[in-house]
Amino acid sequence: MNETFSAGAVAVITGGASGIGRAAARRCAAAGMRIAIVDVNDDKLARTRDELAGTIGPDHVTAERIDVSDAAALVALAGRIEAQWGAPSLLMNNAAAFVSGGAGGILDPLETWQKLFAINVFGPINGVQAFLPGMLRAGKRARIVNTGSKQGLTNPPGNPAYNTTKAAVNAYTQNLQRDLRERESSKVSAHLLIPGWTTTGDAAHKPGAWLPEQVIAFMAEALERDDFFILCPDDETPNAIDRKRIVWNALDVALNRPALSRWHPDYKDAFARFMHQDLPAGFGG
Ligand SMILES: NC(=O)c1ccc[n+]([C@@H]2O[C@H](COP(=O)([O-])OP(=O)(O)OC[C@H]3O[C@@H](n4cnc5c(N)ncnc54)[C@H](O)[C@@H]3O)[C@@H](O)[C@H]2O)c1
Repeated sequence: MNETFSAGAVAVITGGASGIGRAAARRCAAAGMRIAIVDVNDDKLARTRDELAGTIGPDHVTAERIDVSDAAALVALAGRIEAQWGAPSLLMNNAAAFVSGGAGGILDPLETWQKLFAINVFGPINGVQAFLPGMLRAGKRARIVNTGSKQGLTNPPGNPAYNTTKAAVNAYTQNLQRDLRERESSKVSAHLLIPGWTTTGDAAHKPGAWLPEQVIAFMAEALERDDFFILCPDDETPNAIDRKRIVWNALDVALNRPALSRWHPDYKDAFARFMHQDLPAGFGG
């Protein structure tokens, strides 16, 4: 049995009406948990609520139309959930907005940057501020999973606003986990889910991508091991390739190379050679 997904426990999942969040909600429903899904898409919320209610019964599911950038609304939700069901044992701060890069890039309108920060960065912060106090008070084993992205780690050109928000989620979640592990009586841990290429939203499934259910199965196993970083592969990019890309990025700083040297013409050959080498022992290959 997976202790994260256990009957009667409470899960709160933002962005829970679609994709990875919905797959997590389905997994919780299969385990007999009580589930609150938070989303801004009314149609998908209603459909997912009905589907989950069909599995676990209507009393075990609530669908909340809340924008995660609304801190007060999340605090109010936390109060309602705790009064009704108790504090969550799983909080997934997973909702995010994605604005495709295209021509704008760095000079995308300020409103775009502000919107992405409000949802992708303040969404998880708002979720933690709202639910963590109750989770700590409850004194039970509980987990917070924030959904990051490889784009927050390796920073590929094309969508700087999204990359920057996901880099912030990485930094924030590491600080959150360090804080939680330093608290004497805390049984709450934080984890960073880093999905690979995953078919979500209304996209057609393409070869190479994973399905959201695969991401959640991978996440469940990682949580069993208590991993902090949940670095998901997909059918195109195995973990070994991701690890090398991540190490290359870190070496940009350590070796004083140009910013994002992976995409610098002078470093094209060196990067290709690096990717063909094995990482030293202890780097995970
Ligand atoms: N799909 C991928 O390849 C991939 C890769 C890396 C990371 N991610 C991350 O996975 C997470 C889930 O995304 P997904 O791929 O399942 O996409 P998705 O579009 O299927 O699901 C995202 C959900 O979040 C909701 N949402 C958007 N803004 C919101 C807001 N302000 N408040 C509440 N809900 C809001 C949407 O309505 C949608 O239902 C995101 O954090 C995303 O950045 C996805």
